Amino acid sequence: MLNITVLNGPNLNLLGVREPEIYGATSLQHIEDLMRMNLKNMCSEKRSGSAVSLAFFQSNREYELIDKIQEMMNKDKQYIIFNPAAFTHTSVAIRDALLATKIPFIEVHLSNVHAREEFRKKSWFSDIAVGTITGLGADGYQLALKYIIDNYDEL
Ligand code: DQA
Repeated sequence: MLNITVLNGPNLNLLGVREPEIYGATSLQHIEDLMRMNLKNMCSEKRSGSAVSLAFFQSNREYELIDKIQEMMNKDKQYIIFNPAAFTHTSVAIRDALLATKIPFIEVHLSNVHAREEFRKKSWFSDIAVGTITGLGADGYQLALKYIIDNYDEL
């Protein structure tokens, strides 16, 4: 069983109402519902429905994200889709948790962080991520999921 956890950092609980001109009008709940639906479709195509689980966790607190990542340590077949939000640009502590656990992850941002303020160009995660998706809005989460299902070896 492959366990995919979708982690979202601070203020992403406000998606849909928070600066929609930058982050879009789609709520986090809707993104999660779409991911569940897409996973079902992708897995029935691959005939691997029961081989993948999808879990979601959002927090405004750095330590809760670290605890969540540590919970996955030493468990078999973990994968993370991660939008660290503002912690992208600040959190050595979350970076260290990902390095410690060695869980593969894809970094996702709704906005194109490279086309915004200077401070958003620095990510503590991009160099240790499997890959990054930035600027494709809510689709970024679906694309990350598709990548994992298409490319994870043992499905
Ligand atoms: C974000 C970009 C970050 O710079 C910002 O702090 C966020 C969201 C994005 O998804 O575009 O909260 O990660």
